[in-house]
Amino acid sequence: MKTRITELFNIRHPIIQGGMHYVGLAPLAAAVSNAGGLGMITALTLGTPEKLTQEIAKTRDMTDQPFGVNLTFLPSFTQPPYEEYIAAIREGGITVVETAGRSPEAYMPALKAAGIKVIHKCTAVRHALKAERIGCDAVSVDGFECGGHPGEDDVPNMILLPAAARALKIPFVASGGMADGRSLVAALALGADGMNMGTRFLCTQEAPVHQNVKNAIVAASELDTRLVMRPLRNTERVLNNPGVQKLLEIEAAKGASTTIEDIRELVGGIYPKAMVQGDVDAGAWSCGMVAGLIHDIPSVAELIERIMREATDELINGRLRAMVDAGTSA
Ligand SMILES: Cc1cc2nc3c(=O)[nH]c(=O)nc-3n(C[C@H](O)[C@H](O)[C@H](O)COP(=O)(O)O)c2cc1C
Repeated sequence: MKTRITELFNIRHPIIQGGMHYVGLAPLAAAVSNAGGLGMITALTLGTPEKLTQEIAKTRDMTDQPFGVNLTFLPSFTQPPYEEYIAAIREGGITVVETAGRSPEAYMPALKAAGIKVIHKCTAVRHALKAERIGCDAVSVDGFECGGHPGEDDVPNMILLPAAARALKIPFVASGGMADGRSLVAALALGADGMNMGTRFLCTQEAPVHQNVKNAIVAASELDTRLVMRPLRNTERVLNNPGVQKLLEIEAAKGASTTIEDIRELVGGIYPKAMVQGDVDAGAWSCGMVAGLIHDIPSVAELIERIMREATDELINGRLRAMVDAGTSA
């Protein structure tokens, strides 16, 4: 399949792996790129620009295909040294950066001077248009279904994607709720040039996380995510668990006066506990509603091949063409 996204990023399939804290590391990024998608290392997980440099080198040893780096701008307990991360990205020869959280405007001159293509992930058409205006090469349009931070507008992809298609000139990928060939064909039909997946890629053999995390996602249904940190206007969609229940009780009791300090131990430091130690009940870790469509833990290559086969042979050339042909010959 050739789309504006495969052309822009020089990849075989229009499938991107979104940055994921404690998940988007060399083994997953390289596996996605080797399978013809675009893998993404998550810069802030590494903790320092020096360690990001090492992770880029490690990924390069595992793939000769293009891969990118995610730079997330979200409220954090300590401000990361973004300029130094960008220097590490540039010096590591990276040509694609996924930005997310806040507008990357302040960092665009540095990224563009280094010849880096920027795909900004955002949850509203107005933010996508701003990304276009400040020179982003593409956007990832992240619907309300998504794992992670869906923003505060709560617009699902069935509306958000066609609205983005109508407004944007630059190419975009659909993000949030994407899992299989059906998702890809739907994304293309709604105006996107490809899709971005988080939770589905987390549930693959190569994702470098504890088996308990993958098993918890396979066991979960589409009813098992919750929205936390709404009172802080920093909403995150996470997998429900006893830690999240406790967090929601605090938020319900304190309402609009909830502060980050009230919930700190249930949202801070959870990733190492869940992803590394396998304590999936400790508190808030991102997971999309798409968990309800995930029933196995394939290799990344199996997953991407299956998606492309379902999308092209089974859906576009099979089911959909048969409907059109049947209507034409009737
Ligand atoms: C465990 C996990 C961690 C994530 N961490 C980040 C992150 O650090 N930065 C970021 O931009 N997005 C992050 N995301 C969001 C994903 O990149 C992607 O946009 C989202 O998962 C898409 O929705 P989906 O899960 O329905 O595919 C994370 C998602 C998950 C599931």
